[in-house]
Amino acid sequence: MNTLHGKTALVTGAASGIGRASALLFAAEGAAVVVLDRAPEVEATAAEIRAAGGRALALIGDSSAEQDIAGSVALAIKEYGGLDVCYANAGISGGLVPFFEETVARWTEVLNINLIGTFLAAKHAALAMVKQKRGSIICTASVAGLRSGAGGMPYSASKAGVISLVQTAANQLSGTGVRINAICPGLIETGMTRPIFERARARGSERKIGQLNPLRRPGMPEEIAQTALFLASDASSYVNGQAVAVDGGLSTSHPIVIKHET
Ligand SMILES: NC(=O)c1ccc[n+]([C@@H]2O[C@H](COP(=O)([O-])OP(=O)(O)OC[C@H]3O[C@@H](n4cnc5c(N)ncnc54)[C@H](O)[C@@H]3O)[C@@H](O)[C@H]2O)c1
Repeated sequence: MNTLHGKTALVTGAASGIGRASALLFAAEGAAVVVLDRAPEVEATAAEIRAAGGRALALIGDSSAEQDIAGSVALAIKEYGGLDVCYANAGISGGLVPFFEETVARWTEVLNINLIGTFLAAKHAALAMVKQKRGSIICTASVAGLRSGAGGMPYSASKAGVISLVQTAANQLSGTGVRINAICPGLIETGMTRPIFERARARGSERKIGQLNPLRRPGMPEEIAQTALFLASDASSYVNGQAVAVDGGLSTSHPIVIKHET
C-alpha cells in the first residue's frame, strides 16, 4: 500500500471515471494528490481520499486553460513540496458525428481539451519535474488513437496526437530523468461511456458490450488506474515514451468474425 509513499501526484479529470479511480488509488498507495476537474464533483473525490486518511486537495478548473493547469502544479508544490506524478487524463468524447457534418467548432473543442490540455499538463508538470531531475507524466490516449473504429473523428485525431505528444516529449525531456507515457484504454465503463451501457441495459443486450476483444468484456476504471499506478511508480523506471494499450486485447487484431466454442 506504499507504492507512492512520499510522492505528490496531480490528476486531471478526477471527478469521474478513470481520473477518479486513479486519484483514489494513488492516494491509497501513499501519494498526496491534487485533483482537478471542471465538474464540482471533484470535491467529492478529494473528500473521499481525506475520509480514508489520505491527503488531497481539489481544484475546480479547466484543464485546457494554461492558468488553471499552472495553478494546480503550483498548488501541489506549495502544499505538498513538489510534483512527482502528473496524470493528464481529462477528456471529452465529442460524440459520433458523420464526416460531412463535422465542424471546425467541434474539432476545436475536442482538440483543445484532449490534446492541447494534455500538452499543457505535460509542459507545466515537466517544468517542475526537470528541476527535481525526476518525475513521471502519464497521459490518457485511447485505442481510438491507434486506428479507426473507437470514437469520432476529432476524438480519434486528438488521441493519436496524445500518442505523438508522449513520443516527442519523451525525447524533448532526454537526459532530465523525467518520463512520459500514454495509456490507451479500450471500452471502459465511465461517465463518458455511460450512455452506451445504459442503452444496452435498456435493450437487454448488455452481454454484447465488449465482445470484440479477446477477454469479451468491457473494462473498469480501476483496471486503468492500476496501469497508471505502475507508470507513476518506480516499478516502471525504464518505461518511457510508450503508448500502453489496456483494452482486453482489442487493438491486437484486425476485425474478423471468430466462431466461439463457448
Ligand atoms: N471510457 C472509455 O471507454 C475511454 C476509452 C479510452 C480513453 N478514454 C479517456 O479516458 C479519459 C477519462 O475519461 P473517462 O472515460 O473517465 O470519462 P469521464 O467522463 O467519466 O471522466 C472525464 C472527466 O474529465 C473531466 N473534464 C472534461 N473536460 C475537462 C476540462 N476541460 N477541464 C477539466 N476537466 C475536464 C470531466 O468533467 C470528467 O470528470 C479521457 O481522456 C477519455 O478520452 C476513455
